[in-house]
Amino acid sequence: MVLIDRPEIANYSLPEITNRVILGNALEVLKKLPAEAVDTVFLDPPYFLQLPKKELRRWKVNTVVAGVDDDWDKFGSFAEYDEFIYRILTEIKRVMKPQATIWVIATYHSIFRIGKIMQDLGYWILNDVIWAKTNPMPNWLGVRFTNATETLIWAVKDRSAKKYTFNKKVAKEFGIGKVAANIWVLPICNGTERVKDGKGKKLHSTQKPVELLRRIILTSTREGDVVLDPMAGVGTTGYVAQALKRNFIMIEINPKYVEGIKRRFQQPWQLTLPSGQNLINQT
Ligand SMILES: C[S@@+](CC[C@H](N)C(=O)[O-])C[C@H]1O[C@@H](n2cnc3c(N)ncnc32)[C@H](O)[C@@H]1O
Repeated sequence: MVLIDRPEIANYSLPEITNRVILGNALEVLKKLPAEAVDTVFLDPPYFLQLPKKELRRWKVNTVVAGVDDDWDKFGSFAEYDEFIYRILTEIKRVMKPQATIWVIATYHSIFRIGKIMQDLGYWILNDVIWAKTNPMPNWLGVRFTNATETLIWAVKDRSAKKYTFNKKVAKEFGIGKVAANIWVLPICNGTERVKDGKGKKLHSTQKPVELLRRIILTSTREGDVVLDPMAGVGTTGYVAQALKRNFIMIEINPKYVEGIKRRFQQPWQLTLPSGQNLINQT
Protein backbone atom coordinates (compact mmCIF):
# COMPACT_ATOMS: atom_id res chain seq x y z
CA MET A 1 0.00 0.00 0.00
CA VAL A 2 3.00 2.37 0.43
CA LEU A 3 4.48 4.41 -2.43
CA ILE A 4 7.78 6.16 -1.78
CA ASP A 5 7.88 9.53 -3.50
CA ARG A 6 11.09 10.27 -5.41
CA PRO A 7 12.20 13.52 -7.09
CA GLU A 8 12.36 11.87 -10.52
CA ILE A 9 8.64 11.02 -10.44
CA ALA A 10 6.93 13.87 -12.27
CA ASN A 11 3.25 12.90 -12.07
CA TYR A 12 0.97 10.39 -10.45
CA SER A 13 -2.16 9.05 -12.15
CA LEU A 14 -5.22 8.77 -9.94
CA PRO A 15 -5.43 4.94 -10.10
CA GLU A 16 -1.80 4.50 -9.04
CA ILE A 17 -2.26 6.51 -5.84
CA THR A 18 -5.82 5.60 -4.89
CA ASN A 19 -5.99 3.67 -1.62
CA ARG A 20 -2.24 4.13 -1.13
CA VAL A 21 -0.13 6.09 1.34
CA ILE A 22 2.63 8.15 -0.24
CA LEU A 23 5.75 8.57 1.88
CA GLY A 24 6.93 12.08 1.07
CA ASN A 25 6.60 15.81 1.56
CA ALA A 26 3.02 16.89 0.84
CA LEU A 27 4.29 20.19 -0.60
CA GLU A 28 6.10 18.22 -3.32
CA VAL A 29 3.72 15.28 -3.72
CA LEU A 30 0.56 17.37 -4.16
CA LYS A 31 2.12 19.08 -7.19
CA LYS A 32 2.28 15.68 -8.90
CA LEU A 33 -1.41 14.83 -8.41
CA PRO A 34 -3.90 15.40 -11.25
CA ALA A 35 -5.99 18.57 -10.98
CA GLU A 36 -9.58 18.33 -9.69
CA ALA A 37 -9.10 14.73 -8.54
CA VAL A 38 -10.51 14.48 -5.01
CA ASP A 39 -13.97 14.83 -3.49
CA THR A 40 -13.03 15.67 0.10
CA VAL A 41 -9.92 16.70 1.99
CA PHE A 42 -9.11 16.25 5.66
CA LEU A 43 -6.15 18.38 6.69
CA ASP A 44 -4.71 17.97 10.19
CA PRO A 45 -1.58 20.12 9.96
CA PRO A 46 1.09 20.87 12.57
CA TYR A 47 -0.35 23.00 15.38
CA PHE A 48 2.74 25.15 16.07
CA LEU A 49 2.04 24.82 19.79
CA GLN A 50 5.27 26.56 20.88
CA LEU A 51 5.43 24.73 24.18
CA PRO A 52 7.76 26.14 26.84
CA LYS A 53 11.19 24.47 27.08
CA LYS A 54 10.72 23.57 30.75
CA GLU A 55 9.10 20.30 31.75
CA LEU A 56 5.60 20.53 33.11
CA ARG A 57 5.01 18.09 35.96
CA ARG A 58 1.82 16.78 37.49
CA TRP A 59 2.61 17.39 41.12
CA LYS A 60 0.26 14.78 42.62
CA VAL A 61 1.65 11.76 40.76
CA ASN A 62 5.00 13.31 39.82
CA THR A 63 4.89 12.50 36.10
CA VAL A 64 5.82 14.68 33.16
CA VAL A 65 2.84 15.96 31.19
CA ALA A 66 3.13 14.65 27.63
CA GLY A 67 2.41 17.54 25.29
CA VAL A 68 3.11 17.79 21.57
CA ASP A 69 6.81 18.59 21.24
CA ASP A 70 7.54 16.70 18.02
CA ASP A 71 9.95 18.19 15.50
CA TRP A 72 7.18 18.30 12.89
CA ASP A 73 5.36 20.85 15.07
CA LYS A 74 8.26 23.31 15.21
CA PHE A 75 8.49 26.46 13.09
CA GLY A 76 10.79 29.47 13.44
CA SER A 77 8.05 32.11 13.53
CA PHE A 78 4.39 32.77 12.79
CA ALA A 79 5.48 34.02 9.36
CA GLU A 80 7.17 30.69 8.62
CA TYR A 81 4.11 28.76 9.81
CA ASP A 82 1.76 30.93 7.76
CA GLU A 83 3.90 30.40 4.66
CA PHE A 84 3.73 26.63 5.16
CA ILE A 85 -0.07 26.67 5.59
CA TYR A 86 -0.47 29.01 2.60
CA ARG A 87 1.57 26.71 0.36
CA ILE A 88 -0.18 23.53 1.43
CA LEU A 89 -3.66 25.05 1.03
CA THR A 90 -2.70 26.37 -2.41
CA GLU A 91 -1.64 22.91 -3.59
CA ILE A 92 -4.73 21.32 -2.07
CA LYS A 93 -7.08 23.72 -3.85
CA ARG A 94 -5.73 22.66 -7.23
CA VAL A 95 -6.50 18.98 -6.62
CA MET A 96 -10.03 19.53 -5.28
CA LYS A 97 -12.94 18.87 -7.64
CA PRO A 98 -15.13 21.98 -8.19
CA GLN A 99 -17.75 20.75 -5.69
CA ALA A 100 -15.27 19.20 -3.24
CA THR A 101 -15.14 20.22 0.42
CA ILE A 102 -12.23 20.53 2.81
CA TRP A 103 -12.02 20.02 6.56
CA VAL A 104 -9.14 21.61 8.45
CA ILE A 105 -8.66 20.93 12.15
CA ALA A 106 -6.57 22.88 14.67
CA THR A 107 -6.58 24.30 18.17
CA TYR A 108 -6.78 27.98 19.17
CA HIS A 109 -3.00 28.21 18.62
CA SER A 110 -3.41 28.25 14.85
CA ILE A 111 -7.02 27.87 13.70
CA PHE A 112 -7.57 31.65 13.39
CA ARG A 113 -4.48 32.06 11.22
CA ILE A 114 -5.55 29.10 9.09
CA GLY A 115 -9.07 30.52 8.67
CA LYS A 116 -7.68 33.86 7.47
CA ILE A 117 -5.35 32.16 5.01
CA MET A 118 -8.22 30.04 3.67
CA GLN A 119 -10.34 33.13 3.07
CA ASP A 120 -7.41 34.94 1.44
CA LEU A 121 -7.05 31.98 -0.93
CA GLY A 122 -10.72 32.17 -1.91
CA TYR A 123 -12.00 29.18 0.05
CA TRP A 124 -15.59 29.75 1.18
CA ILE A 125 -16.23 28.67 4.78
CA LEU A 126 -19.44 26.69 5.27
CA ASN A 127 -19.14 26.03 8.99
CA ASP A 128 -16.85 25.78 11.92
CA VAL A 129 -17.54 22.58 13.81
CA ILE A 130 -16.47 22.49 17.44
CA TRP A 131 -15.15 19.21 18.75
CA ALA A 132 -15.81 19.28 22.52
CA LYS A 133 -13.67 16.66 24.27
CA THR A 134 -15.22 14.65 27.06
CA ASN A 135 -11.77 13.78 28.47
CA PRO A 136 -9.48 16.78 27.81
CA MET A 137 -6.01 17.11 29.30
CA PRO A 138 -6.45 19.36 32.39
CA ASN A 139 -4.62 22.67 32.71
CA TRP A 140 -2.30 21.35 35.43
CA LEU A 141 -1.16 24.76 36.63
CA GLY A 142 -4.73 25.95 37.01
CA VAL A 143 -3.89 29.34 35.55
CA ARG A 144 -6.47 29.31 32.78
CA PHE A 145 -9.42 27.32 31.49
CA THR A 146 -8.83 23.72 30.50
CA ASN A 147 -8.81 23.75 26.75
CA ALA A 148 -11.41 21.12 25.84
CA THR A 149 -12.06 21.96 22.20
CA GLU A 150 -10.60 21.80 18.73
CA THR A 151 -12.13 23.62 15.79
CA LEU A 152 -12.81 22.17 12.38
CA ILE A 153 -13.27 24.56 9.47
CA TRP A 154 -15.45 23.07 6.74
CA ALA A 155 -15.19 24.88 3.40
CA VAL A 156 -15.63 24.72 -0.36
CA LYS A 157 -12.92 25.88 -2.73
CA ASP A 158 -14.84 28.97 -3.77
CA ARG A 159 -18.13 30.71 -3.23
CA SER A 160 -19.68 29.38 -6.45
CA ALA A 161 -19.61 25.74 -5.25
CA LYS A 162 -23.19 24.97 -4.26
CA LYS A 163 -23.64 21.27 -5.01
CA TYR A 164 -21.27 19.88 -2.44
CA THR A 165 -22.22 16.79 -0.43
CA PHE A 166 -23.93 17.32 2.91
CA ASN A 167 -25.75 14.33 4.39
CA LYS A 168 -28.11 16.25 6.63
CA LYS A 169 -29.89 13.16 7.93
CA VAL A 170 -26.62 11.75 9.26
CA ALA A 171 -25.50 15.14 10.58
CA LYS A 172 -28.65 15.28 12.71
CA GLU A 173 -27.58 12.10 14.50
CA PHE A 174 -24.41 13.82 15.70
CA GLY A 175 -25.75 17.25 16.60
CA ILE A 176 -27.76 18.55 19.55
CA GLY A 177 -31.25 17.15 19.98
CA LYS A 178 -32.87 16.99 16.55
CA VAL A 179 -30.74 19.70 14.99
CA ALA A 180 -27.68 19.07 12.82
CA ALA A 181 -25.69 21.43 15.04
CA ASN A 182 -22.01 22.27 14.68
CA ILE A 183 -20.90 20.79 18.00
CA TRP A 184 -19.61 17.27 18.32
CA VAL A 185 -19.01 15.90 21.79
CA LEU A 186 -16.65 12.93 21.85
CA PRO A 187 -13.54 11.66 23.62
CA ILE A 188 -9.94 11.97 22.45
CA CYS A 189 -8.30 8.88 20.98
CA ASN A 190 -7.62 6.37 23.74
CA GLY A 191 -6.98 2.75 24.64
CA THR A 192 -6.80 0.03 22.00
CA GLU A 193 -7.58 2.52 19.22
CA ARG A 194 -4.11 4.07 19.72
CA VAL A 195 -1.44 2.87 17.31
CA LYS A 196 1.54 1.72 19.42
CA ASP A 197 5.29 1.63 18.83
CA GLY A 198 7.46 -1.45 19.45
CA LYS A 199 7.50 -0.73 23.20
CA GLY A 200 3.73 -0.47 23.52
CA LYS A 201 3.83 3.35 23.79
CA LYS A 202 1.63 5.59 21.65
CA LEU A 203 3.29 6.08 18.27
CA HIS A 204 1.73 9.44 17.40
CA SER A 205 1.04 12.28 19.83
CA THR A 206 -2.00 13.65 17.98
CA GLN A 207 -3.78 10.60 16.55
CA LYS A 208 -7.38 11.60 15.86
CA PRO A 209 -10.29 9.45 17.05
CA VAL A 210 -11.97 7.10 14.59
CA GLU A 211 -15.32 8.57 15.62
CA LEU A 212 -14.28 12.07 14.52
CA LEU A 213 -13.33 10.84 11.05
CA ARG A 214 -16.48 8.72 10.89
CA ARG A 215 -18.59 11.85 11.39
CA ILE A 216 -16.61 13.82 8.83
CA ILE A 217 -16.77 11.13 6.20
CA LEU A 218 -20.41 10.22 6.73
CA THR A 219 -21.65 13.82 6.67
CA SER A 220 -19.64 15.07 3.69
CA THR A 221 -18.92 12.17 1.34
CA ARG A 222 -20.67 9.40 -0.59
CA GLU A 223 -19.61 5.81 -1.12
CA GLY A 224 -16.87 5.61 -3.76
CA ASP A 225 -15.65 9.20 -3.18
CA VAL A 226 -11.93 9.94 -2.93
CA VAL A 227 -10.82 11.39 0.41
CA LEU A 228 -7.38 13.04 0.53
CA ASP A 229 -5.33 13.39 3.73
CA PRO A 230 -2.04 15.19 2.94
CA MET A 231 -0.62 14.90 6.50
CA ALA A 232 -1.91 11.51 7.46
CA GLY A 233 -0.06 10.73 10.71
CA VAL A 234 -0.96 7.14 11.54
CA GLY A 235 -3.64 7.04 8.88
CA THR A 236 -6.94 7.51 10.70
CA THR A 237 -8.56 9.04 7.61
CA GLY A 238 -7.76 6.16 5.27
CA TYR A 239 -8.58 3.61 7.91
CA VAL A 240 -12.10 4.98 8.40
CA ALA A 241 -12.60 5.79 4.69
CA GLN A 242 -11.90 2.21 3.70
CA ALA A 243 -14.29 0.82 6.30
CA LEU A 244 -17.01 3.16 5.02
CA LYS A 245 -16.42 2.14 1.38
CA ARG A 246 -14.75 5.39 0.36
CA ASN A 247 -11.37 5.64 -1.41
CA PHE A 248 -8.41 7.45 0.10
CA ILE A 249 -5.10 9.04 -0.79
CA MET A 250 -2.78 9.65 2.15
CA ILE A 251 0.56 11.48 2.28
CA GLU A 252 2.89 11.41 5.28
CA ILE A 253 6.47 12.63 5.56
CA ASN A 254 7.61 10.52 8.52
CA PRO A 255 8.54 6.87 7.75
CA LYS A 256 7.89 5.93 11.38
CA TYR A 257 4.23 6.89 11.04
CA VAL A 258 3.92 5.26 7.62
CA GLU A 259 5.12 1.99 9.21
CA GLY A 260 2.39 2.52 11.80
CA ILE A 261 -0.21 2.90 9.04
CA LYS A 262 0.96 -0.34 7.43
CA ARG A 263 0.63 -2.22 10.69
CA ARG A 264 -2.73 -0.63 11.42
CA PHE A 265 -4.14 -1.83 8.11
CA GLN A 266 -2.74 -5.35 8.59
CA GLN A 267 -4.31 -5.88 11.97
CA PRO A 268 -7.88 -7.13 12.31
CA TRP A 269 -10.18 -4.18 11.69
CA GLN A 270 -11.28 -2.32 14.81
CA LEU A 271 -14.85 -2.04 13.77
CA THR A 272 -16.47 -1.53 17.12
CA LEU A 273 -16.61 2.12 18.07
CA PRO A 274 -16.61 3.42 21.65
CA SER A 275 -20.39 3.73 21.32
CA GLY A 276 -20.63 0.00 20.63
CA GLN A 277 -21.83 0.61 17.08
CA ASN A 278 -20.41 -1.33 14.18
CA LEU A 279 -18.52 0.88 11.77
CA ILE A 280 -19.45 -0.96 8.59
CA ASN A 281 -23.15 -1.11 9.40
CA GLN A 282 -23.23 2.66 9.77
CA THR A 283 -23.17 3.40 6.00
C1 LIG B 1 -1.41 16.57 13.44
S1 LIG B 1 -0.54 15.24 12.74
C2 LIG B 1 -1.76 14.28 11.89
C3 LIG B 1 -2.37 13.18 12.73
C4 LIG B 1 -3.36 12.30 11.97
N1 LIG B 1 -4.58 13.02 11.67
C5 LIG B 1 -3.70 11.02 12.73
O1 LIG B 1 -4.87 10.79 13.08
O2 LIG B 1 -2.79 10.24 12.98
C6 LIG B 1 0.33 16.07 11.47
C7 LIG B 1 1.20 15.16 10.64
O3 LIG B 1 1.73 15.92 9.54
C8 LIG B 1 2.96 15.32 9.18
N2 LIG B 1 3.64 16.31 8.33
C9 LIG B 1 4.22 17.47 8.70
N3 LIG B 1 4.73 18.11 7.64
C10 LIG B 1 4.45 17.35 6.56
C11 LIG B 1 4.70 17.50 5.17
N4 LIG B 1 5.35 18.55 4.67
N5 LIG B 1 4.25 16.52 4.33
C12 LIG B 1 3.60 15.43 4.81
N6 LIG B 1 3.35 15.24 6.12
C13 LIG B 1 3.76 16.19 6.98
C14 LIG B 1 3.62 15.02 10.52
O4 LIG B 1 4.63 14.05 10.39
C15 LIG B 1 2.42 14.56 11.35
O5 LIG B 1 2.30 13.16 11.35
